[in-house]
Amino acid sequence: PLADLSVGVIFLIGYMGCGKSTKAKQLAHRLDCPVIDLDSEIVNKSGKTIAEFFTAFGESGFRDYEREMLKTFHYPEKCVVATGGGLPCFFDNMEWMNANGTTVYLQMEPAQLVSRLQNRQKRPLIKDLDDVQLLNFINEKLDERNPFYTQAKVIVNAFDLDVETLEKA
Ligand code: S3P
Repeated sequence: PLADLSVGVIFLIGYMGCGKSTKAKQLAHRLDCPVIDLDSEIVNKSGKTIAEFFTAFGESGFRDYEREMLKTFHYPEKCVVATGGGLPCFFDNMEWMNANGTTVYLQMEPAQLVSRLQNRQKRPLIKDLDDVQLLNFINEKLDERNPFYTQAKVIVNAFDLDVETLEKA
């Protein structure tokens, strides 16, 4: 199998709304290891919500802080990490994750993402968009981001992610 789940860090990547945080918790529970949510770590460390962070420092300030968090966090030997949707697509973050763990891309159709992103307030990039605008935005973003996301070692349909699928991948 591509993914050796007995050791190391598993990085879940994918677009906002694909279920990274929920799936990370489930997977960590099944693997009996800790779960880390990098967005939550950013909120804890900075004392700001993601929305407040964007307002204070802009997206580029957020990307710098996010990169720093990714690279300096002390990961337990075995753990599952939920990353922010944009994280793999900036700096050399994707390469770094591939060098330091197993990356898993949770793929989901844009229309499905729209229907799951009903509460947009805490996501600064999409907070003012209606459904039609959001669908267009996601399509554009996925064109930009897929070249990064698809560098993941394992690519799975987000609904199918579980230990068995990863072991077979
Ligand atoms: C972002 C995704 C968010 C968060 C920030 C930017 C993005 O994380 O990091 O709002 O650029 O896609 P989630 O994917 O956990 O919502």
